[in-house]
Amino acid sequence: MNSLLKRALLPILALAFLTPALPTLRAAAGEKHSALEDAMDKMNGAFRKLRRQVTDATKNANSLELVATLRAASEESVKLVPKLAAERPEAERPAFIAAYKKQMQEFTAALAPLEAALKADNNAEAEKIVADLGARQKQGHKEFKKQEKKG
Ligand code: HEM
Repeated sequence: MNSLLKRALLPILALAFLTPALPTLRAAAGEKHSALEDAMDKMNGAFRKLRRQVTDATKNANSLELVATLRAASEESVKLVPKLAAERPEAERPAFIAAYKKQMQEFTAALAPLEAALKADNNAEAEKIVADLGARQKQGHKEFKKQEKKG
């Protein structure tokens, strides 16, 4: 019984106790979710829905709410710094951060014509702008996001 306890039960018990602690362990290892990742996750939820419904004029009121979510999250993102900045040589870091902020500001600015198009029920135009925002997302991630992560 004693050796059965050790070989079979202990690993199961250890797993049961440790599993809830995994996020804490990850945080202790320095893999904390950044404020920018939180803002990006908000953008992601809104953008996925917007992409699906942007051609549907009956959903324009809701689409405008999604754009407002994108705006709030991108304005917040402008104030934050990508994790990748810490990996850049010190001399290059300010330029890296400035380029990131500029691109994020341009993303925020590109939301104004989208709002105008949705308010005017011009869904064909809104669809084009959403495609452009998708391209900006891709470019932003290519330049400023660590490549091993999703998105
Ligand atoms: C529709 C637009 C966008 C969406 C839906 C989006 C979505 C996401 C998602 C899902 C992540 C991963 C978050 C996580 O790991 O939890 C992410 C990370 C990131 N995104 Fe975006 N993104 C968008 C636009 C942009 C733009 C325009 C830029 C840059 C100008 C950008 C820069 C970044 C960076 C730097 C990260 C890594 C976070 C960090 O370093 O802390 N994203 N994004």
